Amino acid sequence: MLKPIKLAKKDFLSSLDTSIEEFFHVLEIAKKFKNKDLDFELKGKVLGLIFDKSSTRTRVSFQVAMSRLGGTTVDLNPTTSQIGRGEPIRDTARVLSRYCDVLAIRTFKQSILEEYAKWSSKPVINALTDLEHPCQALADFMTIQEEFFDFKNVILTFIGDGNNVANSLILCGALLGIEVRIACPKGYEPNFSVIDKAYEIYENKDFLQILNDPYLAAEGANVLYTDVWSSMGEESQKEQKDKNFNGFTIDTNLVNVADKDAIILHCLPAYRDKEITDAIFESKNSRIFNQAENRLHAQQALLACITS
Ligand code: CP
Ligand code: NVA
Repeated sequence: MLKPIKLAKKDFLSSLDTSIEEFFHVLEIAKKFKNKDLDFELKGKVLGLIFDKSSTRTRVSFQVAMSRLGGTTVDLNPTTSQIGRGEPIRDTARVLSRYCDVLAIRTFKQSILEEYAKWSSKPVINALTDLEHPCQALADFMTIQEEFFDFKNVILTFIGDGNNVANSLILCGALLGIEVRIACPKGYEPNFSVIDKAYEIYENKDFLQILNDPYLAAEGANVLYTDVWSSMGEESQKEQKDKNFNGFTIDTNLVNVADKDAIILHCLPAYRDKEITDAIFESKNSRIFNQAENRLHAQQALLACITS
């Protein structure tokens, strides 16, 4: 009988915070939860949610996941708690970790998240930073696994801005050894430290390609993935980015150069006719809503493995 095994690291701040074995274990547990084939409880445990940015999926899927595990959540709105009035993170983290059993934090800089983790005696989960979105990546690879059974020979192409979502895909790709191609306009390439880390892990260095041509990146791909062009916190850059990303929309022409059975993924929220056309978003090969559902199962599994 499969049971959640505790992760070696206290925190899940990055896609590289699990070993490859732990990564597969979390996906296996997630599948069990999805199939209602695992009885496991975190009865009486409390998850604290600190969200410095908006969220629909991450917040609600954490709340529902905790409720399914028999635990509860406390939603700390920074504007109505002392966080928004500048209480030092080291104080907030030490207090909250005396009340809560685990914290999920969405914030700007990765260093803010790391500061919480440093001072919290309880596990801290990255619910999105400017640098990474590792919970999203867990659900993404769960969705890819559902489609292709294993990751061998899967070519994952991400077309869009090289920030948090792309960075976590790159790191997971390196962990799994799968081919990841990123296509972004010049100047919007993924974080250098992420690329360097990924190259250190990849046995086959050709398996990570950072390109500026979406057609080259999409050729023969099994997964076409995109994300918003202007992320949260980049509202003032929207007009400029809309211009700079012209030509990077996932549309029928781009899908036609991918593998004929290629699936379409999007972390959501989506902006039609910016990063993706409505026709492709709603097409039969879109797995976008399965992917969104898998956020719940993957995070339920993560909570089980990090808190138990
Ligand atoms: N994909 C994702 O993280 O969605 P939310 O911003 O709604 O949480
Ligand atoms: N890159 C996007 C992801 C949203 C889930 C953002 O940071 O806003």
